[in-house]
Amino acid sequence: MIDVNKIRKDFPILERKFNGKRMIYLDSTATSQKPIQVIDAISDYYKNYNANVHRGIYGLSEEATDLYEKSRENVSNFINSKQAESIVFVRNTTEALNLLAYTLGKKLKDGDEIITTVMEHHSNIVPWQFLKEKGVKIKYIDINEDGTLKMDEFNNLITERTKIITVTHVSNVLGTINDIKHIGKIAHENGSYFIVDGAQSVPHMPVDVENIDCDFLAFSGHKMLGPMGIGVLYGKKEILDEMDPFMGGGEMINEVHLSGATWADVPLKFEAGTPNVEGAVGLSAAVNYLKNIGMENVREHEKYLVNYALKRIEEFNGITFYGPRDSEIRGGVIAFNFKNVKNEKIAKALMDEGIMIHPHDVASILDINAVMVRSGHHCAQPLMDRLGIPATSRASFYIYNDLDDIDEFINALDNVKKVLKL
Ligand code: ALA
Repeated sequence: MIDVNKIRKDFPILERKFNGKRMIYLDSTATSQKPIQVIDAISDYYKNYNANVHRGIYGLSEEATDLYEKSRENVSNFINSKQAESIVFVRNTTEALNLLAYTLGKKLKDGDEIITTVMEHHSNIVPWQFLKEKGVKIKYIDINEDGTLKMDEFNNLITERTKIITVTHVSNVLGTINDIKHIGKIAHENGSYFIVDGAQSVPHMPVDVENIDCDFLAFSGHKMLGPMGIGVLYGKKEILDEMDPFMGGGEMINEVHLSGATWADVPLKFEAGTPNVEGAVGLSAAVNYLKNIGMENVREHEKYLVNYALKRIEEFNGITFYGPRDSEIRGGVIAFNFKNVKNEKIAKALMDEGIMIHPHDVASILDINAVMVRSGHHCAQPLMDRLGIPATSRASFYIYNDLDDIDEFINALDNVKKVLKL
């Protein structure tokens, strides 16, 4: 299993203290912390290799280009993509999904349909909603009480007008791990494109694009130990080849004349302007770090943490959590709310008025104990609407968390009870 004490030594930030207490970072679903290996790789890039890529013919520029392209290959291998050309570097998952909504969206016509789900992050909803202007209809798969998708609805909602099915692999709120292989099969049998939002899966479990057989996979570097501002769009090369570019400018062209332009081959066709070379180099170092631990081990560790945390929460009396109880189908994220156990009636009335024990208050009180969680709607407002709540607090785990962190978290929840007199 994972040696958390050894791993922690690689993360300088975890030595920081808040209110004199060791920091308990439980917000890796928002962004992960960075190991020294990633920080050093970025620093080394700027100290020794910085030059623009794919442009200079001098040695330094070639070295920078080499680093950038090797990073692409490393990322490609990490998700078992057969061709490095399938990897387009973007800023983040959001940009990858916007790229797809723009380019695939151009092919859609009035009356065409997209199927997604109510558990998506805004970045897998809003870009598609832009297409409503041209008459594209969006259908949403609902969830069961336990926070799993109503899988039967895919077959009920799909029609010959369904051109795209786009689904999150792991919910950033419910933690639900969706059966994307099965959903992909439904999409492909219908001739629809199948897109996976891997923002919350690629950092936490083995993800194999060949096995899933998705047409596209989007994920962010900063959630997987890498730097901010670098993300990945994986796409099947034959589909990327036939797609129009997203942004125009340098780097993405073959030839430009006043009369018009032709495009570079993929992936450069989608990488207009000077790319984020330091980001790619940092992401590659993050991939190496994760490979060293082993993604199976990362997944097992999080399963172990989430099981323990759910058990402690269940014993705690006074907290509702969302999403499946079964850690086989749940990632390391727990969204929760306080119930006013002393007076359920008042608690319910307050909730009905939208004046629940507010997750922001909970997160602020946890912060006194240096326990860092996110609170709010988690960029998943449609899911909040579906759950009938305005917001939740949310704790999430990664390779540098252990059972002590969860015990501290539960102690801090006790403090919330005391402060709010629950
Ligand atoms: N998508 C990130 C989260 O869930 C920011 O917190």
